[in-house]
Amino acid sequence: MAYIEFNDVVKGYPAGDSTIRALDDANFTADEGELSVILGQSGAGKTTALNILGGMDTATSGKVVVGGRDITDLNHHDLITYRRNDIGFVFQFYNLIPNLTALENVELASQICADHFDPAQTLEKVGLADRLDNFPAQLSGGEQQRVSIARAVAKKPKLLLCDEPTGALDYETGKEVLQLLQDICRDERMTVLIVTHNSALAPMAHKVIRFRSGKVVSQETNDHPTPIGEIEW
Ligand SMILES: Nc1ncnc2c1ncn2[C@@H]1O[C@H](COP(=O)(O)OP(=O)(O)OP(=O)(O)O)[C@@H](O)[C@H]1O
Ligand SMILES: [Mg+2]
Repeated sequence: MAYIEFNDVVKGYPAGDSTIRALDDANFTADEGELSVILGQSGAGKTTALNILGGMDTATSGKVVVGGRDITDLNHHDLITYRRNDIGFVFQFYNLIPNLTALENVELASQICADHFDPAQTLEKVGLADRLDNFPAQLSGGEQQRVSIARAVAKKPKLLLCDEPTGALDYETGKEVLQLLQDICRDERMTVLIVTHNSALAPMAHKVIRFRSGKVVSQETNDHPTPIGEIEW
């Protein structure tokens, strides 16, 4: 059984007399410990799918199974625990707390988890050992995104969800961030899902899931993902 199963998922938003179907019977799977890439045009439903997987939004209908558990069935309390312990989230614009240092940002997130990695060591792993006491405004975009990855990873999540993690970064910095995500997937055996507009990234993934108009139009698996350093775009 796949680690993630998205079965006939519909997400409707009321719009006047009609409903916008952000997800319209979307179906896909992703395997444990693998890196999957979600591709699709703007408005295709990628963020909606990620938010439902992360327990930040709920499906209108359908079934979402993560690690053998149907998360559409969780009550309020169990959904909080799921979000807290099982999920790490990386956003396009980092979403760090500006008046906390890099270390404090990571500590804040890991404090709410029963089991977590050491925050300082995690920042070291993402190459920021000497920036622990800097505030976000003192860090470059790429460094801020590294802090946000450290913040997500330090929670020891089972599932790392990344919504356009390189969307605000230049080419080289974006590549370094993707390399980091590929390394984390391999070294920590974390299940990683990356949403991107960049179809050139497809070869880096074990699986490529394409969204169009709220539906999944294709899923391709790749037994030999290409190291990000060998991909040019
Ligand atoms: N809270 C909401 N209320 C109404 N419509 C919404 C809401 N959230 C999303 N939508 C609509 O659902 C559709 C899918 O949105 P979503 O954000 O998932 O797209 P996306 O694939 O992430 O796009 P992008 O690449 O631009 O980030 C869009 O048409 C969007 O306008
Ligand atoms: Mg989006």
